[in-house]
Amino acid sequence: MPDRQGDFMQDVRRCGVNLDYWWPVAHERSFPATGLLGVRIGALELLVFRAPTGHYSVFEDACPHKRVRLSRFGEVVGSELMCSYHGWRFTAQGNCSLTPGFAGLEAKFCLKSYPLRQYGGWIWAFPGDPTRVEERALPVIPPATDPCYHPIPMEGPVHCHFSYMTENATDLFHAQLHKSQQPWANPVLLHLESDDRSVWALYEVEAPRLLAALIGQRGKNRIRVTYEYPYFHLASEYGAFYLFVVYVPTSSTSIWVHSTFYFRHVLGIPWILRLLHPLLDQGTFRQVFGQDRRAVEEEQRAYNLHQQDLSRETNPVSHAVRQVIRQQTLASSPLPERIPE
Ligand code: FES
Ligand SMILES: [Fe+2]
Repeated sequence: MPDRQGDFMQDVRRCGVNLDYWWPVAHERSFPATGLLGVRIGALELLVFRAPTGHYSVFEDACPHKRVRLSRFGEVVGSELMCSYHGWRFTAQGNCSLTPGFAGLEAKFCLKSYPLRQYGGWIWAFPGDPTRVEERALPVIPPATDPCYHPIPMEGPVHCHFSYMTENATDLFHAQLHKSQQPWANPVLLHLESDDRSVWALYEVEAPRLLAALIGQRGKNRIRVTYEYPYFHLASEYGAFYLFVVYVPTSSTSIWVHSTFYFRHVLGIPWILRLLHPLLDQGTFRQVFGQDRRAVEEEQRAYNLHQQDLSRETNPVSHAVRQVIRQQTLASSPLPERIPE
């Protein structure tokens, strides 16, 4: 369905997901003590398994016997994963090691496994065409490996199509939504470029209030926004802060947000931000995230009501983002409707 802006291509709010990228599936800091985590990327359900040795694996989240989710029915027993329905067991490599009552059948079964990497505190999986693994690189997140930065990771669900949240992130003209947490004022779009995969936007903003207090920066500042499907980067001109986010589509109207805000150490002293961490995390970023979530869920609600996008977007950055999403998902996996847990 065309939107009202004259783009006669597929409806961006119904675009699927391109699985031929590295997607973050878990963060080491918040990994469950059970060693098992179920995640969804589009219609694909994945199980992240952490063996007692600390070694991670990513499998399809389905027992090959009856297709129950191992994130719900699995238990870590010794170094293995056991399905609690009939007791089948699997090694950390996904090989079936026991089929109680049917000795000798183990070799016929295994868990489907996916390529995995660890970088920036996340566990990443490649759920797409395995022949494309080598041609796809992980995103480069400069502060993730720079000890001069303090990371504040955050994750959570939002009930909207991933395009809404991506537009929200790349559009700096909505700072007033954030009220006392307003991170900047009077943005001006200085430059915009895009291609089939990426959008680069450069904004000038004034007096980043929250940040000014922390980094002593006043007056005008430039912020570079990069959307390199499916990764979002926001960087301040002088490197004082950096935001990296991935909006993982979990259905046609829901996403799981993986993000980390990196702050450069104030005066080069690490303990200052360590001390401020709870305040920044709970007092600021989660509130900002909640304000954005409320707005984009409202946008999704309007779409659901009219079954089309009647919005009148004025920021050219958002249109560039839509074009990238359309291009990237021309041959993508469709997103399922939200299904009850
Ligand atoms: S369903 Fe998992 S062992 Fe039977
Ligand atoms: Fe926002």
